[in-house]
Amino acid sequence: MEDLLNKLNEQNELTKIEIVYFLQHLTLELQKRLFHLAVETRKKHYNESVYLRGLIEFSNYCKQDCMYCGLRRSNPEVDRYRLTEEEILECAAEGYNLGYRSFVLQSGEDFRYTEELMVRIVKSLKARFPDAAITLSMGERSEAFYRALYAAGTDRYLLRHETASRSLYESLHPGMSFDNRMNCLRILKDIGYQVGAGFMVGLPEQTHEHLAEDLLFLKEFHPAMIGIGPFIPHSATPLKDTAGGTIEDTLVMIALARLFVPDALMPATTAMGTLDPTGREQALSAGANVVMPNLSPLRFREKYELYENKICTGDQASQCRNCIEMRIMASGYQIELSRGDNCNFISTP
Ligand code: 5AD
Ligand code: FES
Repeated sequence: MEDLLNKLNEQNELTKIEIVYFLQHLTLELQKRLFHLAVETRKKHYNESVYLRGLIEFSNYCKQDCMYCGLRRSNPEVDRYRLTEEEILECAAEGYNLGYRSFVLQSGEDFRYTEELMVRIVKSLKARFPDAAITLSMGERSEAFYRALYAAGTDRYLLRHETASRSLYESLHPGMSFDNRMNCLRILKDIGYQVGAGFMVGLPEQTHEHLAEDLLFLKEFHPAMIGIGPFIPHSATPLKDTAGGTIEDTLVMIALARLFVPDALMPATTAMGTLDPTGREQALSAGANVVMPNLSPLRFREKYELYENKICTGDQASQCRNCIEMRIMASGYQIELSRGDNCNFISTP
């Protein structure tokens, strides 16, 4: 284990067999040292900064049927909503006034938001808030769509790979293709986006081998951003009776991802904060460096239910901002409200 920790620290990688061995033999004491190494590695690239992104959940309609997700199309209990172009701009304006210079527009896979409409939304956002970075997270689309949105000024795109294991991926995503997912990620990167990949921890049937594959995929793909969160079973999905992920297992994967991809921007996810009131702070102490407070209109917050008991569904944008600021400062970090680009990202105009 000593050798593996050293290798992680010096070479930022392990083989699949080594990762599995490492996960199997991790003690509490070694875990502490792993988190410490992850935090030191983050500091080399981003100092004590924690970057804030304002999250706008603009539609909870979804044409997909992911087994784990509360917004899956076959969940009839969801009260579906869509934000208009004006409502999205209003949310962003509120965030802008609170100081945010980075916005994430997220939705289910909702094709009512056509290329034309999205181009218009992104162009309006860029015109009104030229110094803000715009990130889209709206699932799989065509190469033409991704190109048009990039040309319109979109800076980043989040598309978690969810799991790098083809068999696990296919069992969780009826009607979807693992190859298409990977293809979308490569296209996004080729176009020039800062791309976010990532996965869930604690999926049913997920093994240490699967998690090793996730880390090796991240190493090879080298995303600008990596989102890792625990799987939280939702009672209106087929996976309602499964165990879900733990804070501890997720922290270990965050730390390993930090060491595998030292320059990544990594959110302390809302799912972490949902499992444990201090989950996001713990994620920061395991190598994460981004927090994404919610800017969605209050009346829609509870309806964007990927999993239940999601935090921050009853808080004004300004309250979230204050709460998160206090939490980050209390943990000894510094708030960064700038665009927060990946430190090695060179934009090509
Ligand atoms: N538990 C945890 N994370 C979930 N996601 C979707 N459903 C769940 C759930 N039940 C994650 C997926 C998706 C992201 C937006 O939320 O990884 O990519
Ligand atoms: Fe939303 Fe704390 S971040 S209330």
